[in-house]
Amino acid sequence: MANVIVIGTQWGDEGKGKITDLLSRSADVVVRYQGGINAGHTVVVNDRTFKLHLIPSGILYPHVDCIIGSGTVVDPEVLIEELDALEAMGVSTSRLYIAETAHVTMPYHRSIDIAAEAQRAEHRLGTTGRGIGPTYADKSERTGIRIVDMMENDTRGAVFRWAIAQKNRILEKLYNLPPLDPEATIAQYAGYAERLRPHIIDASLKIDEAIRHRRNILFEGAQGTLLDLDHGTYPYVTSSNPVAGGACIGAGIGPTMVDRIIGVAKAYVTRVGEGPFPTELQDGVGQLLGQRGAEFGTTTGRPRRCGWFDGVIGRYAVRINGLDCLAVTKLDVLDELPEIKVCVAYELDGQVIRDFPSNARTFARCRPVYETLPGWQQSTQHCTSLAELPATARKYLQFLSDLLEVPIAIVSLGASRGQTIIVEDPIHGPKRGLLERQREAS
Ligand code: IMP
Ligand code: MG
Repeated sequence: MANVIVIGTQWGDEGKGKITDLLSRSADVVVRYQGGINAGHTVVVNDRTFKLHLIPSGILYPHVDCIIGSGTVVDPEVLIEELDALEAMGVSTSRLYIAETAHVTMPYHRSIDIAAEAQRAEHRLGTTGRGIGPTYADKSERTGIRIVDMMENDTRGAVFRWAIAQKNRILEKLYNLPPLDPEATIAQYAGYAERLRPHIIDASLKIDEAIRHRRNILFEGAQGTLLDLDHGTYPYVTSSNPVAGGACIGAGIGPTMVDRIIGVAKAYVTRVGEGPFPTELQDGVGQLLGQRGAEFGTTTGRPRRCGWFDGVIGRYAVRINGLDCLAVTKLDVLDELPEIKVCVAYELDGQVIRDFPSNARTFARCRPVYETLPGWQQSTQHCTSLAELPATARKYLQFLSDLLEVPIAIVSLGASRGQTIIVEDPIHGPKRGLLERQREAS
């Protein structure tokens, strides 16, 4: 294969799970590089459906090593639930590895996440309430607890006691919440440590070994470009870096080790949580997209806000991630529509702009400028090649590709593995970095 990063180009929920599942078949190692249990993908094994938040779906392939990298935040309780659920279904989890440098989500992170959201009132962010922001905040503030701190029996007590004492003051004085019992929490996490011990490793070293043995590595991002802490719609973002650059930091490898970057884009756009969304549809079309696309959060069950494809954020995602190609998902959700709009630019204070504004308040004032394309009004779910698609559907895809100046390698037309068109080999097909595109143009 090669070393490939798969990222979301929108606000998450682009269907990365299906695309990484597809690519995991030819991978030797899958690395999750950021985020925590705020993410979620649905996996179907032997007709049984369950939801994974931390463990890469690559675990379902017996030949794939799965690594939860240093850039993630790990809630051990939920991770153990996922391990137990997989084992109960006969899926071996002995090839799951966890970076000892990843940070641990503690019970106080969850309480603080929920309490802080409640206090923000109309300024709320719409977090998943899973303690993600507070865990990363402690990491940056250097008061976090890492997996190693949880593992080491002789120092665990002291590290936990100090951290819990600090946080109990915040829980009690700032949020009027009951304090956490330090000794009970230490005992609880000592139990998690024993359960997880066989899986804990130096992840960067293991990934380096895989690179040296020319094994194929898939770096799987959670959330999406516009939820990126640095490059997303701040403050309505998550607290990590889902963008392609985040893969190097979160896995512990250098940028020269990456061969390819694939962006996953839904054929329309959704967003969960608060924040600006120029192409949002609050009418019957939005409802239809939500129904046909089953747009409910995997983690929180919240209905997702739905809207037309936004080419401005698409172009932005190509730039921020240096995308080589796109995987367009859920094209079939548009099957019934007589016409389909695509946002090609924004109107901002009477001017037309084509570049995504980095100031989120400016972004909130942007209004979409649409081009309207004809729909195809027939089912595409059975199509297995571009040629089988209605001509109008092909035109729609070509329009997106031209707008974003990046080739479409994969088209997904339903949840199952078979409902996929491989337009061009995403791994071995021509690489279309910016330099190559410029060379082609000159
Ligand atoms: P947090 O990551 O729980 O702090 O939530 C911050 C924002 O990111 C909220 O708008 C969430 O809805 C959004 N978010 C976090 N994880 C996901 C995801 O996996 N898919 C979509 N949105 C997400
Ligand atoms: Mg999701």
